Parts: sequence; C-alpha cells; structure tokens
Amino acid sequence: MTGERTPQRPKRGMNATVRKKRDLLSLFDVDAAEIAALFKRAGELKEARRNGEVTHTLKSRTLGMIFEKSSTRTRVSFEVGMFQLGGMALFLSSKDIQLGRGETISDSAKVMSRYVDGLMVRTYGHKNVEIMAEHATVPVINGLSDDFHPCQILADLLTYEEKRGSSKGARITWIGDGNNMANTWIQAASRVGFHLVLSCPVNYDPMPEVIEAAQAEISARGDSDASITLVRDPREAAQKADLVTTDVWASMGQEKETERRLRAFEGYQVDSAVMAEANSDALFMHCLPAHRGEEVSAEVMDGPQSVVWDEAENRLHVQNAILEWLLLGNR
Ligand code: CP
Ligand code: NVA
Repeated sequence: MTGERTPQRPKRGMNATVRKKRDLLSLFDVDAAEIAALFKRAGELKEARRNGEVTHTLKSRTLGMIFEKSSTRTRVSFEVGMFQLGGMALFLSSKDIQLGRGETISDSAKVMSRYVDGLMVRTYGHKNVEIMAEHATVPVINGLSDDFHPCQILADLLTYEEKRGSSKGARITWIGDGNNMANTWIQAASRVGFHLVLSCPVNYDPMPEVIEAAQAEISARGDSDASITLVRDPREAAQKADLVTTDVWASMGQEKETERRLRAFEGYQVDSAVMAEANSDALFMHCLPAHRGEEVSAEVMDGPQSVVWDEAENRLHVQNAILEWLLLGNR
C-alpha cells in the first residue's frame, strides 16, 4: 500500500454523524466491558458450534479481507467464521487488487465500502489500517499490522479465561521481541487489568509510547491489579507467572534481519528452565507460526503446559463475536 497522510480523526462524541461505525484497529478501541461481552458471546458461539447449532446472525453480510502479508489462521478463521454466521468473506490479496498497483488506500476504502459490510486488513504500517478506517464507511478490523494484532490477543485472553477464570490480576510474562504481539499485550494489560512482565533484549523493547499510554491509563484508574514491567532477564521475568508467552524473533517484513536477530535473541528462548520459574500450573501460549528451537523449545511447545491449539481455535470464536459486534452493531 502506498503511504498517505493520516487525516485528522474526528474526536468521538464531537459530531454524532461523522463516525457511527466502530473499528477494531487496536485494543485501545475497546473497553473492559466490551471485551467481557465479546468473551461471553464467543463462548456462546463456541458452545453452539459444539452442539451443531446453526447461527446465521450475519446472513447475507460480506467481509472483504485485504492481505498484504501471508496468513494461515487469520485468513481461514475469518473466512470460515463469516460462512458459519451465514455471510461470506472475500480473500483479496493486495497483489491481485488495484491497491497493489498504487490505487490509494482512501479510494480503495471508499469503493469497497459500497460493496461489503466490513473490512479486515493485514498490512505493514499501522498507518495503513488507520487510513482505511478513516475512509471506509464500514467497520475495519486490524488483522495484524506491524504494531498491533488485537484479534490474536483477544483469542489469547479468552483462552486464558476459559482455563483459569478471570485474568484480572494475573501475572503474564512475555519473552522475546517487543513486536506487534507485545504491544498489544501491553494494551490488554491496561484495558483488562493484569500484571504484564516483558523480557526483551536491548534494542528490541516494545513501543515506548504504547507503554506510556498503558501505564497512564493504569495509574489514572488506580488499578493495583495491573502493571507493566520490563525485565531483561527472561528467567527472572518468568518467576511466578500464570502464563508465559512468546512469538517469532523475526516478524513478517523483517526476514532480512533474521541472522542478526537470531544472535540478539540468544538466551531468550522459552524452554523448560524458563517454565520452571513460572507457577507449576502456568500455561504456555504462542500465536503461531512457531519456530521450535528458536523462540520456544519443542519440549515446551508440545508439552503439557502448552495450549497453543486451543488458542488458535479461539481466533475463530472470538472473531465471530467481533464480527457480530461490528457488523450488526452499526446498522
Ligand atoms: N497468529 C496468526 O495471526 O497467524 P497467521 O499469520 O497464520 O494468520
Ligand atoms: N509477530 C508476528 C506475528 C505473526 C502472527 C508477525 O508479525 O509476523
């Protein structure tokens, strides 16, 4: 997508006619009550699927899915989800649509809004998702940008709560790259309220402005169940954790940095020694795809504490709840 200046976003509540729609660009677009409602609905939809019930709440609705990066889970779960809800999804590779040939994001957003009821975008610069949301008249969902991956963290938290109950006040440890996943965990810590400990090598910390915004929100609320702490030593970071989670050391778009990153992240693998520092019933999560032997040992990834397959499944259920919320809530 070609870069464009981000127009001034209208302030919420300033002009009711400007933005009736809601978007999910990052977890700062949802509050704690909305997250709880999404989890409740995701649970109902999951149970309905288990019972073989048909839930056609999005009958004849459509979702355009624009992908600039590869995907297995995001593509399949959104596409299957729209079908399960009675609608349909269009897979739009940026290589095949005019966006990839220089049509502007704003023009594309305006045109696609005339055809579809919602847009899901997976792209590089987060600015691209913001521009899409600004110009689309239908809800826009961030299916991963360089900075944030909100659908994944909602699936992760849903998985945690299914297995351990409320995540309020839990201790969650992130080990590895301060990437889009780490940034989104930070937003979740402030919105939902849990203790997040991040352990990243020097020069690979998460975005400082995201940490500052999240910490300011926690302080303003005076929430003693929430905190964000950076700890260099991964074993120290994992101490007493209820959940340990990680992600690849080189994200999509960083392939050329792989060798340098492999050296920089030495010692940051989530292995049995790291898990031994955590609570004995601690869970292990990974958004996938995973590289066994790099950010996680095969023993942990495929071991009894790993819940990665349930986590991947929950992308489907939580996104179905998100789709209902955004596509129906705006009519
Ligand atoms: N976790 C995740 O978003 O996976 P995909 O890249 O396969 O969509
Ligand atoms: N951080 C990874 C997540 C993949 C789901 C990436 O952006 O490639």
